[in-house]
Amino acid sequence: MAIGILTSGGDCPGLNAVIRGVVLKGTQIYKQEFVGFRDGWRGVVEGDAIPLERKDIQGIGKQGGTILGTSRTNPFDNGHGVETVRETMQRLGVDSIIAIGGEGTLAAANRLTDAGIKIVGVPKTIDNDIAATDYAFGFDTAVEIATEAMDRLRTTGDSHRRCMVAEVMGRHVGWIALHSGMAAGAHAILIPEQKTSLEQIVAWVTSVRERGRAPLVVVAEGFRLDTMDDPHSERGLDAFGRPRLGGIGEVLAPKIEALTGMETRATTLGHIQRGGTPTAYDRVLATRYGLAAIDAVIAERWGRMVSLSGTTITHVAFEDALGELNTVPQSRYDEAAILFG
Ligand code: F6P
Repeated sequence: MAIGILTSGGDCPGLNAVIRGVVLKGTQIYKQEFVGFRDGWRGVVEGDAIPLERKDIQGIGKQGGTILGTSRTNPFDNGHGVETVRETMQRLGVDSIIAIGGEGTLAAANRLTDAGIKIVGVPKTIDNDIAATDYAFGFDTAVEIATEAMDRLRTTGDSHRRCMVAEVMGRHVGWIALHSGMAAGAHAILIPEQKTSLEQIVAWVTSVRERGRAPLVVVAEGFRLDTMDDPHSERGLDAFGRPRLGGIGEVLAPKIEALTGMETRATTLGHIQRGGTPTAYDRVLATRYGLAAIDAVIAERWGRMVSLSGTTITHVAFEDALGELNTVPQSRYDEAAILFG
């Protein structure tokens, strides 16, 4: 019997390093066979899988994206569910699954585990929003990319004496904004956890301008002004039914310009934050998750997700990993806010 691997949800630098870690240890130490389901749960539902041997994972640890493809397919949609998954597994000779994904993926994995499907999970979230792990791979890469972009925005902003607004990812939590903004010396960091008034943002921008500097405002896509009920979204819903976010920077820029008289430009980093090669930190973390995930399969730790606690890789039950978001604590925001304005 083979072990199936899938990557599901938004892609994330480090997915390939997880796959490599699983397959290397699984084939060399445990003498197991693997198949890779294509495009996440879609591959499971439709029985679309490829063999995964050692030769297939050579050199992929440093590659961005995922060699298996990904999608936001929910295995319980369109009349599918436990029976479809079971049928595919029997037909392809797959005994258990390693599911690499975020909240939606793990929720589906939890339901399947309850029905007796053997699954081990690996957390994947570029936003770093899963509370049951200290860090998820992909986050460090996103912060590096965002910081480098902001360093560049600052030199052009300084040259033109403009206010620059940099929008980064972060649907429910502002970790990418907080870390990249602190690293780049931002003058305001706007995150989903902290509704803020336009007057406050204008006060920070004005104080920077009065010192003769060009302000940098960092905003997470899920940020709301204190006058907004929901995050800015104008591109419909994704396959999980969530609003497609993006564009709050472009909403804020003209407001800041109108109230400060300072020319203000917005840049949305978007998927650039998710593309390309993972940092060394993310490669190491993702590889360690892969090694731990195959250990968990061999130890039959079904229904558990590998997680990072300090520097140690451990496991948590799916139900304990679900539902709680890793939000930016007030103390971390207050610490950063000392540097605003
Ligand atoms: O959930 C992670 C995330 O990176 C969010 O920050 C963002 O809203 C979303 O994925 C974008 O995903 P997609 O590329 O599927 O629209």
